[in-house]
Amino acid sequence: MELSINGSKHQVEVEPDTPLLWVLRDELGLTGTKYGCGLAQCGACTVLIDGQATRSCVTPVESVAAAQITTIEAIASDVVGQKVVEAWVTHQVPQCGYCQSGQVMAATALLKQSPQPSDADIASAMVNLCRCGTYNAIAAAVRHAARA
Ligand code: FES
Ligand code: FES
Repeated sequence: MELSINGSKHQVEVEPDTPLLWVLRDELGLTGTKYGCGLAQCGACTVLIDGQATRSCVTPVESVAAAQITTIEAIASDVVGQKVVEAWVTHQVPQCGYCQSGQVMAATALLKQSPQPSDADIASAMVNLCRCGTYNAIAAAVRHAARA
């Protein structure tokens, strides 16, 4: 099937029910999207599907064949994503970094939908897990990106 990822078309030959995460990582080498739980629990695998934050570990690739898929590799090319990345750097958000590509994707999706989110909006949207406990820095960076 043909997938539209980061503005380019990609041909892949995979089983239709293959999780998008494995197509991105194993077929296309887009390893910025991480595997954490494989159960839609942690959010490490978050990508944007038509602008919506989506857990790619439980998304059958056939379900996104007609969609625009955005991964962390292209997020700095997005005007909102660039602001998020800049805010992440300013606030030195990452610790080990493993969860952070998913966090950046979730923050970008939030700010695209809600450019001036309340603290409650941030709390309800930024639900990806971070074993390093960077939650306060994440919230501060989202507020910073919204101001920018
Ligand atoms: S790896 Fe997809 S939610 Fe954890
Ligand atoms: S920065 Fe280590 S898991 Fe989030």
